[in-house]
Amino acid sequence: MGCSDMPVPSIIINSLTKSYGGLTALDSFSLEVEQGAIFGLLGPNGAGKTTLIRILTTLMRQSAGDASIEGLDILRSGRDIRRMIGVVSQENSLDRYLTARENLELHARLHGMEKQLYKSRIDNLLELMGLAGRQLDFPDTFSGGMQRRLVIARALVHQPQVLFLDEPTTGLDPQSRRAVWEYVRSLAGSMTIFLTTHYLEEAEQLCDRIAIMDHGRLIALGSTQELKERLSGATVYEIEFSGQDIDRYVVLLGSMPCVIDIKQAGSKVTLTLECWECLSEIVTSLNGAPVRRISLLERTLEDVFISLTGEKVRE
Ligand SMILES: Nc1ncnc2c1ncn2[C@@H]1O[C@H](COP(=O)(O)OP(=O)(O)OP(=O)(O)O)[C@@H](O)[C@H]1O
Ligand SMILES: [Mg+2]
Repeated sequence: MGCSDMPVPSIIINSLTKSYGGLTALDSFSLEVEQGAIFGLLGPNGAGKTTLIRILTTLMRQSAGDASIEGLDILRSGRDIRRMIGVVSQENSLDRYLTARENLELHARLHGMEKQLYKSRIDNLLELMGLAGRQLDFPDTFSGGMQRRLVIARALVHQPQVLFLDEPTTGLDPQSRRAVWEYVRSLAGSMTIFLTTHYLEEAEQLCDRIAIMDHGRLIALGSTQELKERLSGATVYEIEFSGQDIDRYVVLLGSMPCVIDIKQAGSKVTLTLECWECLSEIVTSLNGAPVRRISLLERTLEDVFISLTGEKVRE
């Protein structure tokens, strides 16, 4: 950071490596996250997302490299870091012998909060998460979505500066997922949020910047828009036919060298072309064909992910 009025990044990750025996789960991983950002880490199963979060939240030690949270080194300042971060781990780790409210109170006391401070804070969080009416019930009687919201509330009781969310909405129905998104969005700016997800839509909806990782390595970094632009020159068009005899056109198009991929669903054919200029060849070859419409399809993050990793993101 040469420039003095540049804010200090909230999270600095510098060549972090983690090996489990012979397996390198994290491979010289580097990244910076600015303060107040919502940062999304995307990757398929086993990419190393949870491993990275465990190391950053000081639950596990790295094999090599270093990282800091708000300027504090993760190896030297574990205690101070744990005090100022909130963590939502991949599994809901609620105490099933405590009520929802008691789960939050225990967390507050573990963080050394005074009762008069945590009481109103917990009231607010239960209200915000739509759990006020169920605060005296045990987590076992909650749906998955309610449990997840309780875990998020717990991570916020002590007003963390940095919030880590490991797959915050996995297993939630669309409605609960949206409720969590709305809440996470409302926190934007008041703290740094680092989340992992395998829902591309989630990253697109919530995050200022996104990193894609696979096999322990960073493979792409940028805003959603930048990542879409990083896609190779390939463009995808949808051709809608109005006639019946579509098969012979599918065969014809599929045999053209500029066509990378072709899929048919009913009267619609999706074509992936080497570049948009190839479209004129397509139009020429379809001369006389019963075409209703040709449209350029918006590229999704899913396309970026597949083009970079060769894998689909699990859903
Ligand atoms: N405690 C462990 N001991 C040995 N190997 C592990 C351990 N934890 C994770 N791994 C391995 O490290 C790799 C990365 O795992 P990690 O849990 O970080 O991936 P992930 O990106 O969080 O995956 P998911 O999306 O399934 O949660 C995987 O190959 C996994 O099998
Ligand atoms: Mg994980």
